[in-house]
Amino acid sequence: MCGIIGYVGKENAKDVIISGLCALEYRGYDSSGIAYNVHNKIKTVKMEGKVANLKEKLSENSDLPNIGIGHTRWATHGKPNETNAHPHKVGITTLVHNGIIENYMELKNELKKFYRFKSETDTEVACALIDYYQNKEKDKLEALKMAQEKIIGSYAFAIIFDDEPCSLYTMRKDSPLIVAEKNNNYYVASDIAAILSYTNEYYLLDQGDIAKIADKITFYDKDLNIIKKDINVYHGTLNDVMKNGFDHFMLKEIHDEVTVYKNIINSYVPNLNILDLKKNFGSFLKYQKITIVGCGSAYHTGLAAKYLFENYANIPTNVEMASEYRYKKIFPDKKELVILISQSGETADTLEALRKAKENKIDTLGIINVLSSSIARESNKVIYCLAGCEIAVATTKAYLAQLLILSLLALLVAYEKGQMKKIEANKYLHDLSKLLKDTKEIINNKNYYQDIAKTFYQDREMFFIGRNIDFALCMEASLKMKEISYIHSEAYAAGELKHGTISLIEKDMVVFGIVTDPVIAPKTISNLKETKARGSRMILVTTKEIAKAYENDNSFEYIITVNNINPILQSLTIITTMQLISYYVALLKGENIDQPRNLAKSVTVE
Ligand code: AGP
Repeated sequence: MCGIIGYVGKENAKDVIISGLCALEYRGYDSSGIAYNVHNKIKTVKMEGKVANLKEKLSENSDLPNIGIGHTRWATHGKPNETNAHPHKVGITTLVHNGIIENYMELKNELKKFYRFKSETDTEVACALIDYYQNKEKDKLEALKMAQEKIIGSYAFAIIFDDEPCSLYTMRKDSPLIVAEKNNNYYVASDIAAILSYTNEYYLLDQGDIAKIADKITFYDKDLNIIKKDINVYHGTLNDVMKNGFDHFMLKEIHDEVTVYKNIINSYVPNLNILDLKKNFGSFLKYQKITIVGCGSAYHTGLAAKYLFENYANIPTNVEMASEYRYKKIFPDKKELVILISQSGETADTLEALRKAKENKIDTLGIINVLSSSIARESNKVIYCLAGCEIAVATTKAYLAQLLILSLLALLVAYEKGQMKKIEANKYLHDLSKLLKDTKEIINNKNYYQDIAKTFYQDREMFFIGRNIDFALCMEASLKMKEISYIHSEAYAAGELKHGTISLIEKDMVVFGIVTDPVIAPKTISNLKETKARGSRMILVTTKEIAKAYENDNSFEYIITVNNINPILQSLTIITTMQLISYYVALLKGENIDQPRNLAKSVTVE
C-alpha cells in the first residue's frame, strides 16, 4: 500500500524516481510526488492521480538532481489531493511515508505550538515530529531514534534534510523497506519492483532499523549501534515486472499460471511422489486442528482448502479473516497449526494475526509468495508459492499457487495420518501433468470466455452459487468480478438462497452455478433452476462428466466445462475460467483492469 523510492547517486534522480514510481504504481495510485535536492535547495512536485501526471509536470523542468525521494499514494488520512500527497515538508525535513501513525492526533496537538499543518495527513505530523527532534538534538540519527520512540503505528520513511544535501535517511516498522547499492548508486524502495532495472541485490531493513545513505550505506539498530546486513538476491528478472506484449498484467499473469504450477511441481514434488512432499514440506503429523487465516482472495483459498483438509485428511479446519482473528477470542491448542496465507507477506491484518498466534504459543506456517517478506520471516515455518512477481491488483496466479500448495499439503496430511495410502496419494499427484495441460488449453481458448463475457458485460449485478468447496470457488469468482469490473456480485451458498436472498433475483439477471462435486451436483443445479424460474439467465460451470447429464437441457445459457481431474485438483481449472471471464468483462467495459479504483496491491494498513 503506497510505494516509496529514494535515490542517491550519479544519475538524474528525477528519472530514477519516476521510473521507480511507474513500477510501484500498483501499490497505490491516488496521487504521486517527488522531492529532490538541487543546488542545495529541496524542490517538491506533487500531482493528483496517476504517475503519468507527475511525469508530465516534471518534463517541464530541466533540473538535474542527484538525490531525491518519491511516493505513490493510496489515501488513508485525507482526500487524494495534491495537498495530502507525499512528500511532506516541515521545517527542514522532507519525507515520504508508508503506513499509519496511530497516535498522530495526540502528536499533532503537542506539535501545534511549533508548526502550522497544511494537510490532513498523519504523515505531515510524523514529519513535524522528526523536524522537531532534529532541531532539538542537532543530530539526525538521534532525532530519528527519538521519533521512533514516540510514534505508535507502522511506517517506512525515506527522509531528506535541507541542511544535508547529500544524505538520505530511512527507517521502518511494520511496513517493508529495502536498500540497495549498484556502482555507487544507492536506492531505497518499498519493494524490489522499483529498482529491478538496476539491481536484484538488496538489503532488508528489520523492525526499528535506520539506514543513512550518502557515499555509502550505514545501518543502525534502534539504539543506533552500527549493524551489518546480509545481501538478499531476488531470483527473478526484469521481465517479471514488464507486460511482455500483453495488454494488461492480469492477462499476463493468467498466462503465467502453467509456469507457476511447473515451479511448484519441480520444487516440491519433482517425482510426483508423496514422499517428495514430506521431504520438502516436513511433517504435520502432530497437528489435530488447523486454523487458516488470510484476507480477501487468500482467505478464499483457505475456505476451499478447508474442505480438502476435512474430507481427505480428516482434520478439523477453521478459516478466519485475519481482520477478525486478530481481535477475537481464540482457544489455543498445543496440537493446532495456524496457517497464514498471503501473496505479499506484508498484509497488516495477517501479520498481526500471525503475531497473535505466536504470542499464544501456537505453531505457525506461512504460505507466502514474496520471499523474505515480514510474514515469511516471522512464521515458524514457510512454504513459498513460487508465483513470481504479481503486479495486477486482482490476484490470479498467486491465488492458484496458494490453492495448489494447500491441496498438496492436504494430500500430505491425509497420507501422514493414514487417511490415504501412498499409492492413492501418488495417483492424485500424477494428475498434476494433466493440470498443466488443461490449464494451458483453457488459456489458449480465451476467446471463448470473451464471447461469453460479451453477453452480459453491461449488467449491473449477478450471482455465483455453489455448495461446499464450490461455494468457496464462488467467493473468489465473485470477488474477481467485483473488484475489476465494478459489477455488484454476490457469492451465495446455493442452499441458502431460498431463505431470503432469492428475492433479489430479477428477470435476466445472470446467475453462475459452480458445480464440481457429482454427488451434490443435482442439488446445486436445482437451486440454479429455482433462479431460472424467477427469470434468471443460468450459466453452469462444471466438469465434462457432470455436464453430460445436461447435454439436452436448453435452459442453460451456457454450460462452461473443464476436463475432469480429481477432486483435489479440480478447483484450479474452474478458477482459471472465472478469472478469464472477469478479465474480459472488465476489458469490454473499458475499466482500468490492473489498477481498479480505490484498491492497492499490498494492504499494509489495518
Ligand atoms: C484479490 O484480488 C485482492 N487483491 C485481495 O483480496 C488480496 O488477496 C488480499 O488483500 C490479501 O493480500 P495478500 O495475499 O497479499 O495478503
